[in-house]
Amino acid sequence: MSKEHTIKIFDTTLRDGEQSPGASMNIEEKLRIAHQLEKLNVDVIEAGFPIASEGDFEAVRRVAQSIKGPEIAGLCRANDMDIDRAWEALKYAGERGRIHTFIATSDIHMKYKLKMSEEQVIETAVKAVKRAAGYTPNVEFSAEDAVRTRLPFLAKVVEAVIAAGAKTVNIPDTVGYTIPSEYFNIIRYLKENVANIEKAVLSVHCHNDLGLAVANSLAAVQAGAGQVECTINGIGERAGNCSLEEVVMALRTRQDILPYKTGVVTEHISPTSKLLSTITGIVIQPNKAIVGANAFAHEAGIHQHGVLMEKTTYEIMTPESIGLSKNKLVLGKHSGRHAFGQRLDELGYELSKEDINKAFVRFKALADQKKEIFDEDLDAIVADEIIRVPEKFKLLQMNVSSGSFAAPTATVELEVDGKRKRTACMGDGPVDATFKAIKKLTKSKARLLTFSVGAITGGTDAQGECTVRLETNGSEVLGQGAHPDIIVASAKAYVNALNKAASVESRTSVHL
Ligand code: KIV
Ligand code: ZN
Repeated sequence: MSKEHTIKIFDTTLRDGEQSPGASMNIEEKLRIAHQLEKLNVDVIEAGFPIASEGDFEAVRRVAQSIKGPEIAGLCRANDMDIDRAWEALKYAGERGRIHTFIATSDIHMKYKLKMSEEQVIETAVKAVKRAAGYTPNVEFSAEDAVRTRLPFLAKVVEAVIAAGAKTVNIPDTVGYTIPSEYFNIIRYLKENVANIEKAVLSVHCHNDLGLAVANSLAAVQAGAGQVECTINGIGERAGNCSLEEVVMALRTRQDILPYKTGVVTEHISPTSKLLSTITGIVIQPNKAIVGANAFAHEAGIHQHGVLMEKTTYEIMTPESIGLSKNKLVLGKHSGRHAFGQRLDELGYELSKEDINKAFVRFKALADQKKEIFDEDLDAIVADEIIRVPEKFKLLQMNVSSGSFAAPTATVELEVDGKRKRTACMGDGPVDATFKAIKKLTKSKARLLTFSVGAITGGTDAQGECTVRLETNGSEVLGQGAHPDIIVASAKAYVNALNKAASVESRTSVHL
């Protein structure tokens, strides 16, 4: 297949994705996702917006230092300070470091946000690209709100930034406004009306406000775009971004009419999706295409019958192609360390011996309480024991009494900054009493927004999984916890959210 038919996958989960409410991640969490994206073999990882905060800068620097395969991009506005700061973080990736600079080009943004004329915007864009090109030839320029930009002006901007040294030019649908036929025509117009267009890769970046981000991206590919910007699970501002797994699997599944390939190792899609959901606490809707829990479940009898006779009657792609294993092996009390480690390996977790041992202790304790341990239980154990690294606060032990005539009371012992602390509180119910006790011990000012409980697998012995959403200093954080006792799971989720809130409180940020 010719080079023109290879589509670059630019993953912006760690930058645009992190702008989702509640999705903020700490540096260690970002590194974990970056390593998983490396396994997925995306072409570019946009690791953050270095000037936005110290935390963002550090995350981009650490990702640039430790990821070896994909290119690493850092976002910056079209000004010297942003660009210099971005390169300071990206330089560790050498030639793989990509400066991604942007300025808005639509009338509405130029008039109300930038208060700049067309000439000033072109001049600023060209100056920014030239400054970035002084650091690296790997420069991407984005015309923010390109879809609502007058086409002749957009073509003029694209031509000017390519002449200034941009090797990739991105045409974002910043507000998720376009539809496939219109977006196709925009990309076609640029291909036909920009004299030097062959000197750069045209990129697309779609938001999902009308639910069309994937369809629009595919239309753009058919019109000649060479790069798609997307996020895992489609997370991102407002309704999110184009979902990586959907666009990649559409290209893989419909080779008959979409003869393009990507370098993505699709078998890593499911583990990557789960890891992101665990880290951010953003639950994947069950009917979400490709990675939802029901995406490969055939419920109707007629469908089940068809699939048993011949899979392709109702299955357009296999679960294995996204890394879901056929073999839903059940582990139990007598399963040994080796079988346990092997299963974790098959589920896509690359753990050190020490981490496997830690998870194995938890697995044995769970196996004493629950006859059969499913893959979902293992995901929860790894999430709890290894991925959600305990930070400022750690739940040590707790006891709750409640019922129809006793006042619900919780006694909770936490480690706070390395010191053991204990208190007891009464509440309207056992969860309320527990949260009050934790709040008292941590002295947290975070406000509880929502709390939800679910069962990880079926049966009354299933582990409960709780999600807690907190508001702190204007940002939202999500925490999760799993345990066979749902009150303990609630406490774990609350402590996990407070740990995230503590790291958010220490960050300042610049908004786009
Ligand atoms: O949506 C958008 O326009 C962006 C740009 C900064 C690329 O995220
Ligand atoms: Zn965006």
